[in-house]
Amino acid sequence: MTKSNLIVWDEARFEVGIEDIDNQHRKLVGYVNNLSLAVNSHLEESHLSALFMELYNYIKLHFKTEEIYFCTLNSDDCLLHELQHKHFIEELDRIIALNEFKKNAREVLFSLTDWLVHHIQVEDKKFITQNQHQSLI
Ligand SMILES: [Fe+2]
Repeated sequence: MTKSNLIVWDEARFEVGIEDIDNQHRKLVGYVNNLSLAVNSHLEESHLSALFMELYNYIKLHFKTEEIYFCTLNSDDCLLHELQHKHFIEELDRIIALNEFKKNAREVLFSLTDWLVHHIQVEDKKFITQNQHQSLI
């Protein structure tokens, strides 16, 4: 099994141009890669669960940061963005409640990575591009 990172940080692909948010996204990618390496190394279940919870807690902290910043730019669009975050956290809560990560770590890891990468590259970037542009008009 590969020991390479699941997500390769690429400024052009990931950076949204807001330093604090970019730093948190970079850190988030680090948590995903740590978890991926641990899954591929078949570490014991308690270790994998601890890394999964670390990622989960960091995602929640990061979403709060984004929501505070985004709501200063556009309160209407912010509500939709908050809803996207809320639904993802609810999905992670469901995964935790049903022990799904313990049952199928790779599938859960790939699924949450797919959501996060899409969210950063499309939703976060779109929000900032549109709303920073509007605030200049
Ligand atoms: Fe977001």
